[in-house]
Amino acid sequence: MYYGTYLGLDKVLNSQHPVSFEKGNEPAHDEMLFIIIHQAYELWFKQILFELDYAVKIFQQELINDNSEDLNLVRHRLRRVIKIWELLNQQVNILDTMTPMDFLAFRNLLTPSSGFQSKQFRLIEALLGLPLEQRHQKDYYKRTNEGGFTQQDFQTISSAESQTNLLVLINNWLERMPFFESRYWDIQNNEAINHPFWVRYRHIYSGGLTEREQAKIIDFDYVFFEQQDESLSEADQFILRSSFSPAALRAALFIMLYRDFPVFQSSYQILDSLIEIDHLLSSWRHKHLVMVRRMIGMRVGTGNTSGSGYLEGALNKHYIYRELSALSTYLIERNKLPHLPESLTRDLGYRL
Ligand code: HEM
Repeated sequence: MYYGTYLGLDKVLNSQHPVSFEKGNEPAHDEMLFIIIHQAYELWFKQILFELDYAVKIFQQELINDNSEDLNLVRHRLRRVIKIWELLNQQVNILDTMTPMDFLAFRNLLTPSSGFQSKQFRLIEALLGLPLEQRHQKDYYKRTNEGGFTQQDFQTISSAESQTNLLVLINNWLERMPFFESRYWDIQNNEAINHPFWVRYRHIYSGGLTEREQAKIIDFDYVFFEQQDESLSEADQFILRSSFSPAALRAALFIMLYRDFPVFQSSYQILDSLIEIDHLLSSWRHKHLVMVRRMIGMRVGTGNTSGSGYLEGALNKHYIYRELSALSTYLIERNKLPHLPESLTRDLGYRL
């Protein structure tokens, strides 16, 4: 093996072709940076997709042993995705060394290509669980003319969107958690709203709400038990719970509450990683938006969207694991946590 051959450097290092350097154009020094930074992003996107594919493969299994090596590896690899996103967020600062006028020197030569067309970015979003229907200005994504995708990329993205994504798989995995089964709680029927754990928990939670927070119990009942109070509009309901089922959110809250039990650690860290990835993506969107505003002001994007207006909409709308992060709303103090039945903690591999 030879270093350059193994890494394919011949191809990688010969793939920077600034258009402004072509005959007849005025060479723009910063176009090289512009190309390399995009390529660096795309390489990291490739690695992120590789890690997410692994997570999807594991969660697609019929049975997932929560104490298995598989789950630990998913946890570990999602942490890696987090580290990569942290780096990607830093990279915006390098691009910021290009001034708006440096960019203007070659900007028009790029039209109508744009980061909007990054197939890998769209695949990451799709794999994490952002469906086309929930995208800001979704008609932009259906465009296969100027500024949109090629037919082939469009097909690849649509097909990724129609496959099971990580959000759906995590939802199913959470729904299968056995915490509330009647065998642990000495009950005949384990209807969630009358389940002894939830009756007690609801009481403690409600007792801890301040005067201004009293209405949170209505949200609580909707999120975990589908109780629809008339004060909740359709939009409220959508924000409170639209991607995860009540059963999945009950299990997720339970894991967050009892996260200190060693047996919940991997599950907790997986949920926490997904929340963090979502935050990092959103933080990238924000940094990119601020950079775009500085670079092109209120001009339209090379990809033919309204530019920063579009990016702002996407930033506000494209949270994927919003409902998981919102679970903090429903936590209670650690010292008020209900004790768990011994049979449950024993089965979970933990002794009181
Ligand atoms: C001078 C630097 C940049 C400018 C002025 C810029 C501008 C824009 C604009 C205006 C859009 C909206 C679509 C459009 O109409 O074109 C966009 C989207 C996008 N850009 Fe950039 N961009 C820059 C650098 C980058 C870099 C380095 C990346 C890294 C991959 C990137 C990735 C993206 C992505 C993924 C989108 C789609 C975002 C979404 O739909 O949420 N951009 N960009």
